[in-house]
Amino acid sequence: MPRVLSGIQPTADSFHLGNYLGALRNWVAMQRDYDTFFAIVDLHAITVPTDPVELQDRTRLSFAQLLACGLDPELSCIFVQSQVPQHAELAWVMQCLTGFGEASRMTQFKDKSAREGGDAASVGLFTYPILQAADILLYQADQVPVGEDQRQHLELTRDLAQRFNGRYGDTFVVPDAYIAKETARVVDLQNPAAKMSKSLPTGCLFLLDESKVIEKKIKRAVTDSVGEVHFDPVEQPGVSNLLAVIAAMSDSPIAEVTENFAGGGYGPLKQATIDVVVPFARDFAVRVADLMADRAELDRIMDEGARRAREVADVSIVEVYDRVGLRRPS
Ligand code: TYM
Repeated sequence: MPRVLSGIQPTADSFHLGNYLGALRNWVAMQRDYDTFFAIVDLHAITVPTDPVELQDRTRLSFAQLLACGLDPELSCIFVQSQVPQHAELAWVMQCLTGFGEASRMTQFKDKSAREGGDAASVGLFTYPILQAADILLYQADQVPVGEDQRQHLELTRDLAQRFNGRYGDTFVVPDAYIAKETARVVDLQNPAAKMSKSLPTGCLFLLDESKVIEKKIKRAVTDSVGEVHFDPVEQPGVSNLLAVIAAMSDSPIAEVTENFAGGGYGPLKQATIDVVVPFARDFAVRVADLMADRAELDRIMDEGARRAREVADVSIVEVYDRVGLRRPS
């Protein structure tokens, strides 16, 4: 079976609808047909200032959310990145293969470092995409299911795999990004020009928000002055976003969903969005609460996932040390 790896940061108290539709939903769908590895990437989380207790809590809560989404530890290796030291080991080697200019061109770094206040941004934030490349390459992943915002990081990952293979001999699989077309970029409900993101909470649908909050955010979603429902992400990005959400959540083609609203205004479109998102979020929250109630069991699943991940990661690391000319701990 082809190998899949992806990751998500534990940097909020809840995943949001963009995470779910852009990534997590595809992870769940891939479990049976691929050899799947999914990580809570807490090493990535500390590239910006984080509170240690909050990070621990969010890592556990994020892990519970992965299970609540439908990831099954019997089918997938689900683990926390910091429990697998090989990620940091390979990241160092990959940093030594990355050009300074190459790393400087990463657009997410430019955006995030501006938010951190320019020069105050950490070197870890700068090398973040290289750690991400290490995450992927360690597991020899063929496919990496992510949202559109990760495309540039995947390109860097491919370049680094090819560079390592060229310099030291064939070692790494060169992975492909797996980006679901319709939901690759769920947009902000208040500003359809921006992607939905935890850093813009008013336009972001957090899955663990209360139903009333979700409902209110959808009701207030920015639309346009066209007054008719068409799927046209350029001219009607807000409306098209709601159509894409309904289509994805109800497993229906966008054309069919759009057809159902032909001639209608935006009120029914928003109500239909509420009708698909609110019950899903409500069930999700119940499952998360159940999982969080048994902390010992959650920790057991985490430790078991990490044990399996270390086994696979170590095969790559042993080969890398050998090829690069480093000495393994004896
Ligand atoms: P993160 O934690 O920001 O986001 C997790 C996943 O959610 C997707 N996503 C979206 N998809 C569609 N619309 C949106 N508005 C939206 N917002 C977020 C992201 O594309 C991502 O797939 N760098 C990664 C974490 C990472 C990783 C990896 C991913 C670390 N190592 C290795 C893949 C493989 C990130 O920041 O994800």
